[in-house]
Amino acid sequence: MGFYRVAVFLLHLLVSVECDLTEKKPNLKAEVLSKTGMDISELQELSKKDSTPPPIILIPGDGGSQIEAKLNKTDVVHYLCDKHTEDFFDLWLNLELLVPLILDCWVDNMRLEYDNVTRTTHNPEGVTTRVPGFGNTTTVEFLDPSNVSPSRYFIDVVKALLDAEKKYKRGETILGAPFDFRRAPNELSEYFIELKKLIEDTYENQGKRRVVLLAHSMGSLVSVYFLNQQSQSWKDKYVACLVSLAGAFGGAVKALKVFAAGENLGIIVLSRKALRTEQMTSPSLAFLLPSRTFWNSSEVLVSRPSKNYTVNDYEEFFRDMNYSIGFEMWKDTSKLLADFPAPNVEIHCLHGYGINTIEQVIYKKESNFPMDPDLIYGDGDGTVNIRSLQGCLKFKEKQKQQVYHFPIKGAEHMEIIRDPQALQYLVKLVKTDKAMEMLRHLGSLKHKNAI
Ligand SMILES: *[C@@H]1O[C@H](CO)[C@@H](O)[C@H](O)[C@H]1NC(C)=O
Ligand SMILES: *[C@@H]1O[C@H](CO)[C@@H](O)[C@H](O)[C@H]1NC(C)=O
Ligand SMILES: *[C@@H]1O[C@H](CO)[C@@H](O)[C@H](O)[C@H]1NC(C)=O
Ligand SMILES: *[C@@H]1O[C@H](CO)[C@@H](O)[C@H](O)[C@H]1NC(C)=O
Ligand SMILES: *[C@@H]1O[C@H](CO)[C@@H](O)[C@H](O)[C@H]1NC(C)=O
Ligand SMILES: *[C@@H]1O[C@H](CO)[C@@H](O)[C@H](O)[C@H]1NC(C)=O
Repeated sequence: MGFYRVAVFLLHLLVSVECDLTEKKPNLKAEVLSKTGMDISELQELSKKDSTPPPIILIPGDGGSQIEAKLNKTDVVHYLCDKHTEDFFDLWLNLELLVPLILDCWVDNMRLEYDNVTRTTHNPEGVTTRVPGFGNTTTVEFLDPSNVSPSRYFIDVVKALLDAEKKYKRGETILGAPFDFRRAPNELSEYFIELKKLIEDTYENQGKRRVVLLAHSMGSLVSVYFLNQQSQSWKDKYVACLVSLAGAFGGAVKALKVFAAGENLGIIVLSRKALRTEQMTSPSLAFLLPSRTFWNSSEVLVSRPSKNYTVNDYEEFFRDMNYSIGFEMWKDTSKLLADFPAPNVEIHCLHGYGINTIEQVIYKKESNFPMDPDLIYGDGDGTVNIRSLQGCLKFKEKQKQQVYHFPIKGAEHMEIIRDPQALQYLVKLVKTDKAMEMLRHLGSLKHKNAI
């Protein structure tokens, strides 16, 4: 039976059992008996005992974790900037720091320095950072700890799950796994150790219930990388599935635009130039450059009057910008998922489409390069191009586990995380998993396969 047919039957069964509609549905008894070998009263008993929904671990995307910093600097870029702080303070996201004058201080604390010998990044001298809240949801529900509305993140997902299932609890069955999103997976090995432990502990603490990984944007790529590092038996034991919201599977042309010209994060008064100084130091931005698996060498991504750049021309692109570190970081990160390996777990891939998304970066005059591009748009979710969002379809031929694809028209890259259709899909998924679990349990008790 296909997923949906089983799911529909099980949901029907679960609802019937929970609501005790058996008298109104005389056929149910026979149906249950034939499909499960169970008596309806046994089933009812079991549904009460074993009705834990699957635990969920939230894996955020680029910019989707809080970062705290502590300073002990000898030099600052401006007399307004603090040199020392007694304790850690909120660096990302703290909307108060993203104001014109203070922005330069912020940039100088948030940027990374690349070491071309170790091929890793580090904070500038005198800056210590940490990512708070690993294991609970608080720091991924809102990005600005003052909970102001532009920083809403996983809050609506968490609320939808809490509303749908009484047994869900923050920090126990819904957990967050924030990380330093400035880094790409080659620099996240400690994070992956913690994530693995979080998954194993959650599985044990929740009566050996397999975990749903719910990732957004770059989080989907980080999850695929992580899953590729685990053995198949580990994945089969601990992971129910990966749910990807707006997964940037093949990168995004927007990353090229951010390297070239910066991004004001939608706040018009912020200087793109200042922000670019920080943004271009993140290896994760190089990790998100359009991938060769998704774009070919005859497609022009960046165009100047004298020169075109395709996926094969990143070395020249960065050299011409006088930023060869960008190319070094691309070399480090492009090999992480080079042949686009499948995660080998069930995957549910939700994404938006039908929104203008940067497809080409064009310079009409040489003097516009690199800070003043014109942009050409194509289909996508406003940030990630459609072919990249649909990337999970490539897994269909590469893995035997199911790949479910659920595109949502008009669901913008960030908005998908509170889109009613996406939330409904998620609720249906956990209810189905719960029903499946019940039947598995039942099947093993009866020493026969339920389905
Ligand atoms: C601050 O940095 C200086 C060196 O620049 C060092 O001597 C001092 O111990 C540091 N203070 C703290 C609290 O780490
Ligand atoms: C590393 O960086 C230094 C200083 O910027 C530079 O002189 C050197 O050529 C670089 N080495 C490599 C291998 O890129
Ligand atoms: C998780 O955070 C919530 C508040 O958001 C708190 O009530 C709960 O106790 C925390 N759980 C754990 C296990 O720390
Ligand atoms: C490259 O991709 C474009 C657009 O998807 C396609 O039209 C073209 O045929 C491809 N070229 C090669 C050489 O594969
Ligand atoms: C760049 O590519 C465009 C097509 O996208 C082409 O018309 C143009 O001649 C190319 N320019 C250069 C300098 O090769
Ligand atoms: C890169 O550096 C060269 C040599 O200093 C300079 O001529 C050129 O204008 C610079 N390019 C950009 C885009 O800054």
